[in-house]
Amino acid sequence: MLKMENVHTYYDNIHALKGINLTINKGEIVTLIGSNGAGKTTTLGTITGLLKPKEGKITYRDEEITCIQPGAIVKKGISLSPEGREVFP
Ligand SMILES: Nc1ncnc2c1ncn2[C@@H]1O[C@H](COP(=O)(O)OP(=O)(O)O)[C@@H](O)[C@H]1O
Ligand SMILES: [Mg+2]
Repeated sequence: MLKMENVHTYYDNIHALKGINLTINKGEIVTLIGSNGAGKTTTLGTITGLLKPKEGKITYRDEEITCIQPGAIVKKGISLSPEGREVFP
């Protein structure tokens, strides 16, 4: 259902994601775990279109979403609830 293939994301010259591969099937609940700086937030930012990968492919329901705008990705059904407080007033 959601697939990342060889995804590389940078912050300027900092190579944060070095070839991520991930497949999530329908009905699965997947948790990303890792130490600080491992790339969890960068992975989620890349899936949701907030960060653009330099290389690789992301597909959702067999449709490529790698280079589309975050708002369009939300409309396809992917959204991010940030960990920060005050999501609801
Ligand atoms: N805004 C940023 N500018 C430069 N480097 C960043 C930025 N955000 C994250 N990084 C770097 O990218 C890597 C992955 O960070 P991040 O995705 O925030 O990890 P996690 O969420 O797992 O703690 C780290 O090396 C981090 O220092
Ligand atoms: Mg984080």
